[in-house]
Amino acid sequence: MKSALVLLSVLAVSQGIIRIPLMRGKSARQALEERGLFEEYRRKFPHSPAAKFLPQNEQSSVPLTFDPRGTYYGEIGIGSPPQVFKVLFDTGSADLWIPSVSCTSSACETHSKYNSSASSTFQASPNTFHISYYSGFISGSTGYELVKISDLYVEHQIFGFTDTEAGFLEFQPWDGILGLAFPGLSNEGGTPLFNNLWNQGKIPQNMFSMYLSSSVEGSVLVLGGLDSTHYTGTMNWIPLYQTSNFWNIQIQSITINGNTVACSGSCVATVDSGTSLIIGPDRDINNINGWLGASSDADGVASVSCSITNLLPDVVFNINGYSFALPPSAYIMQSGSGCTTGFASGSWILGEVFMRQFYTAFDVGQNRVGFAQAV
Ligand SMILES: *[C@@H]1O[C@H](CO)[C@@H](O)[C@H](O)[C@H]1NC(C)=O
Repeated sequence: MKSALVLLSVLAVSQGIIRIPLMRGKSARQALEERGLFEEYRRKFPHSPAAKFLPQNEQSSVPLTFDPRGTYYGEIGIGSPPQVFKVLFDTGSADLWIPSVSCTSSACETHSKYNSSASSTFQASPNTFHISYYSGFISGSTGYELVKISDLYVEHQIFGFTDTEAGFLEFQPWDGILGLAFPGLSNEGGTPLFNNLWNQGKIPQNMFSMYLSSSVEGSVLVLGGLDSTHYTGTMNWIPLYQTSNFWNIQIQSITINGNTVACSGSCVATVDSGTSLIIGPDRDINNINGWLGASSDADGVASVSCSITNLLPDVVFNINGYSFALPPSAYIMQSGSGCTTGFASGSWILGEVFMRQFYTAFDVGQNRVGFAQAV
């Protein structure tokens, strides 16, 4: 009896966790470089990581800029029968939106488009939505749909379907965005998808987690708990910093070889799967890049010689009494044009460069973030 109960509970847990495979596709930067358009896009739509977290007002919010590197996405189905979309799972915003058949912008032509007439579960809403980005805006209508994510169905999910999209979205490998931040951040209003998953009793724990691989395949979004096959050691938990709509945590300091090089006297950072790099104020980032011997160009891109990257020190993030050491293999990015560091200017964000090294848990129920060594 006892062993049967144990078996049952083990089954319940392992069945409850939902794994969504994520692709690390060709980045917008690669796609643009192949077409010889990257420099033009960079000038037209300057990337401003900080702009994503400017204070919201009633007219506008700025949850996204042209980030040429943001590349992790997975598939969801919207409607009945499901229409399939690739979405960026973004812990820095709280809306679900995808392109629609009524959109004639060039960015919609290169992506899958939602057709409400082809779905038996579509429910219209009188509300329109408009999201102002630093690099342009998107707008459209909102409605409610049945959303399929892996084998789970979320009922009556608010979502936005665009009729206008800014040009900087044209070369993104994903069609739309699925926001995983807190409900107060939503432009569309209503309950974000993850909160509905929990409220509708579809997942065993009010938590999701992410493993971001440096390979094209193998990354995963885990809904309802942790996937212990993707990390080693203990999960180190960090309480969220104050009440906010973002996944904000306090960092005590950032050190190199025991010297405080940034975030002296503590700072607050957003953990954001929709930002590719580690972002911080100019002074701090210049100091880190200086310690790494990197030279920055006018666009703030910090380069180092590829031949010495294995000699570079760890950059250590001291958070809640834990030390998270980022080795050069994690923070140096090599491309055809050379080696650059993963540290850029803005307000503090721990993006994909950090999350690739540390499996990240987003615990909604207990208002905390967890990091563990990814494997
Ligand atoms: C949308 O779906 C309806 C019903 O299936 C179909 O008649 C119509 O042609 C579709 N519209 C577009 C633009 O694909």
